Amino acid sequence: MLSREKNELLCRVGPGTPMGEVFRRFWNPICLASQVPEKRDPLRVEILGEHLVAFRNAAGEIGLLPEACLHRSVSLALGRVESDGIRCLYHGWKYAIDGRVVDLPNALPDAQPTLRSRSYPVREAGGLVWAYLGPPEKQPPFPRWPFFKVPVANMRVNRINADVNYMQQLEGGTDSSHVGILHTNFARPGWERGEFSANPDTDNPAALSTADLAPTLDLEDTDFGFHYAAMRELPGDADGLHNVRIVPIVMPSTRIIPSVALQFVIFEVPMNDTRTATFGVTFRPDGGPVDQWKLNEASGRHDPALFCEQTNRYLGSWANNFGQVRENMDRDWSGIHGVVMEDMAMQMTQGPIADRSVEHLLAADKAVVRARQQLLESAQRVAEGKDPIGVHADLSAVMGCDRSVPPSTRWQELVPGHPARTT
Ligand code: FES
Ligand SMILES: [Fe+2]
Repeated sequence: MLSREKNELLCRVGPGTPMGEVFRRFWNPICLASQVPEKRDPLRVEILGEHLVAFRNAAGEIGLLPEACLHRSVSLALGRVESDGIRCLYHGWKYAIDGRVVDLPNALPDAQPTLRSRSYPVREAGGLVWAYLGPPEKQPPFPRWPFFKVPVANMRVNRINADVNYMQQLEGGTDSSHVGILHTNFARPGWERGEFSANPDTDNPAALSTADLAPTLDLEDTDFGFHYAAMRELPGDADGLHNVRIVPIVMPSTRIIPSVALQFVIFEVPMNDTRTATFGVTFRPDGGPVDQWKLNEASGRHDPALFCEQTNRYLGSWANNFGQVRENMDRDWSGIHGVVMEDMAMQMTQGPIADRSVEHLLAADKAVVRARQQLLESAQRVAEGKDPIGVHADLSAVMGCDRSVPPSTRWQELVPGHPARTT
């Protein structure tokens, strides 16, 4: 449970807010690389309550500027993209990718003001476009995510936008105990007959090797935030092994969910206080290709009633009951098709910003609580002029893990690339 004041602090991310300042100290994904194509259409970008426009110049470099023209605030997203910048349609002011106004056709030749818009540093990596919106003197090194080494064509890189606060999305992914329950269709095949047969699909992150619904959680702070292990008893004769699922929570709002074979890196990027862009990168640790079609089907993104491919928008709401078909619920546990669509429905019904002053938490929510604590601690640190947790962490070997091991195994040994917390 959180007081209303702390909940506000945690959830509000606009310019000048404490949590907005935390997010601005990190490189965040802002869009898919494929959303800023070479054909040079500008893209409206909303992030942390700021309205921006992204575009590519002829050299393929991406500019990220405020959407409103400096002249009289017309949207540059309707502008013409030229070889060396973007030109406002209204009176033709042209901006280079660094924000300099390089042409003012409606200004007299002897009265040309020198003007410069804000512009943010942008990088492209792993099929995503990343930006840093914080103070220039605090800009951290660009992170080295493990998937940057994998060919983009071998990964699944996607996005879903939903009208909900980022923290609900992050908490959903920080909460191991819902996996065996909400995602019963994948996690506990045979449930409708009162039986359990492990789902053999090593790609599916909801395919647990056990029907244990109350995992024991163990947490440890790391340089990047924290990681936790959910330990589950295995059924019957399992050679004395138990199952361990380790999820790294990378500050400020990223997690890595493992399946047995794949890694799902999921970034929750606040567009504003009540809208979140979820970017997902799925890859094989050996760099081999993933089965895009199969993963799409398992996630539920293939259903046009719930997801729009063109806009990346989640379409579930009470108007369509979030896709739930109640007649099916004798054989379909949630009545909602797909892991992501099940998650989305849960998080949307908590409201645009969940009221955490009325909740009743259990030991199963330990990791959720730790994520909140670390974010609030980071807000405090930034307010004191210090660095937020995780901003300089080495992410190059941070991985999730789903393994069955003897209970005597120290779970941290399964993820040797997770640096211990040093600050
Ligand atoms: S409003 Fe953009 S040039 Fe006038
Ligand atoms: Fe889930």
